[in-house]
Amino acid sequence: MLGIIGGSGLDRMPGLSLHQEIHCDTPFGAPSGPLLKGERAGRSLLFLPRHGAEHRIPPHKINYRANIWALSQQGVDRLVGMAAVGGINRAMPPGSLVIPDQIIDYTYGREQTFFDGEFQPVEHLEFAQPYCPRLRQQLLQAARQADQNVINGGCYAAVQGPRLETAAEISRLARDGADLVGMTAMPEAALARELGLSYANCALVANWAAGLEAEPISMAQIERQLAASMEQALQLLMQLD
Ligand code: HPA
Repeated sequence: MLGIIGGSGLDRMPGLSLHQEIHCDTPFGAPSGPLLKGERAGRSLLFLPRHGAEHRIPPHKINYRANIWALSQQGVDRLVGMAAVGGINRAMPPGSLVIPDQIIDYTYGREQTFFDGEFQPVEHLEFAQPYCPRLRQQLLQAARQADQNVINGGCYAAVQGPRLETAAEISRLARDGADLVGMTAMPEAALARELGLSYANCALVANWAAGLEAEPISMAQIERQLAASMEQALQLLMQLD
């Protein structure tokens, strides 16, 4: 079954006819909220807003393990993480939709593995390609069908947040080879891989990253941009086979 994790600006899923709210607990605690089971184009789907229904959970406090575990337990085997990001690469301006193909993880202090030697034996995950190539292709195909322009590939810098970056931090991320900056790609992608889920990310560029414009980043502007891009993202998801 397809699962969708909603990010900032996508805490509801219009078009999803809701059948069931699944309240679950996991060995790692509670997920961000009930899993919403619904139907999209005649097929079952599970939706979970990562920050909770009222956007109360900041990126560093999300229980990523509980979210991924709960979705997997409920039968999700393909998972798309939606994420608002800042654009670092000049070819990825606000309003772009990007299907990234790489991640650099700068987060810290997050529970980031099921293989911690307590719950499951220590194992070293192979993670050279952090996103499922097949699901990425399916998303790109869905974009073509929905007549949406999406950018194929990009390196997502996962930062701790919740504050935005300094201009020097963004210069460093650019030197590291990052194209996008966001706060939630990790450990979500690695945990999904640990449980054998096929996982990909659909990134919505909400703003230019810090220091790329003279004006400071405005939250109101980010929200406006996300609201404008969300319709595009939803149409793409509706076309996903
Ligand atoms: N930085 C980090 N995370 C983000 C940004 C940003 O500029 N925009 C949206 N999420």
